[in-house]
Amino acid sequence: MKILAIDTSCDESCAAIVDTDAWKLCADVVLSHTQSMEAYGGIVPEVASREHLKALPLAVREALARAGLALNEIDHIAVTHRPGLIGALLVGVTYAKSLAFALKKPFSIHDHLQAHLFSPCLISLEGGEPPKFPWLALVVSGGHTELFHAESPARYRWLGGTLDDAAGEAFDKIGKLLQLPYPAGPRIDKWVRESATPEDRARFAFPRSKPDDFQFSFSGLKTSVANQIRKLEPLSDADRLALAASAQEAIIDALVDRVESSQRALGVGQIVVAGGVACNSRLREKLPGAYFPPPRHCSDNAAMVGLLAALLEKEGRLENAPWTATPIAHAELA
Ligand code: KG4
Ligand code: ZN
Repeated sequence: MKILAIDTSCDESCAAIVDTDAWKLCADVVLSHTQSMEAYGGIVPEVASREHLKALPLAVREALARAGLALNEIDHIAVTHRPGLIGALLVGVTYAKSLAFALKKPFSIHDHLQAHLFSPCLISLEGGEPPKFPWLALVVSGGHTELFHAESPARYRWLGGTLDDAAGEAFDKIGKLLQLPYPAGPRIDKWVRESATPEDRARFAFPRSKPDDFQFSFSGLKTSVANQIRKLEPLSDADRLALAASAQEAIIDALVDRVESSQRALGVGQIVVAGGVACNSRLREKLPGAYFPPPRHCSDNAAMVGLLAALLEKEGRLENAPWTATPIAHAELA
């Protein structure tokens, strides 16, 4: 089966093709719209929807070209339907459904977080060995900071998550306070890695909040950085670097602390980390025993959606989505 996968949950138009017989990723296209958002210092949902309208057909066409396939050779269309920006999601879902209807092929809807959660298995589509189940998984991105216990792609349990901001959001908002362009996470990581000293990392003792088990909170950290900036203003470049380094240290310490305490509580050996913030070099350094997918598999992509559909199909649990709304009760449908 050749699966065309689509993800438009945020500000990237993503299309990928997975061949389940060859167990291979045939194409993985990500058209990013972060540049259109730079002027606004963050994502504007309406702008994201309009960018998807223009870019999604191009992403699909490019994926087909890279895979050397025609549209009618696609057997199934898998699309992300939650969570994310509603307008952006609707563009992807409507596009996928219309395409499936025109091609007379089945389509299925998938959870973006579940796709991130099993993205460590993407390596298997490239001939690599994925980490063995069960996992304690930290899914950490611009919109989410969640802990899961996973036994297989169809059997997993949400343990807890952030009470307010996500870790990626904290990176981006703190970066904005430091006048870094959006998205600030990768920029803070690179700047601190290349230029900060251990003294910079320790200069400001920002809070490492510890709510209940399996929970995170980052909004207090953001306020604390804003207060510190007000005290120091005008900021020198050395101040900005130390603020970025100390804030990154606080975010990473909070993540690592929760992952390690959850691991002890559950007695699970294998830790996996997924989502955009899993690209962070300091997080990788501080969790040396964890499995981190290659960075191209961490940030948003449709390959993980195609893989999720493929894994579910392998377990006989891939469900085709219905075509239409109906006033008839479920029992009468058959
Ligand atoms: O998973 P993702 O691509 O999109 C969402 O579903 O949110 O994650 C994007 C987030 C952004 O907040 C970005 O700043 C953050 O991941 N990010 C990083 C790094 N690379 C991306 N944060 C810290 N360090 C990085 N190297
Ligand atoms: Zn994501």
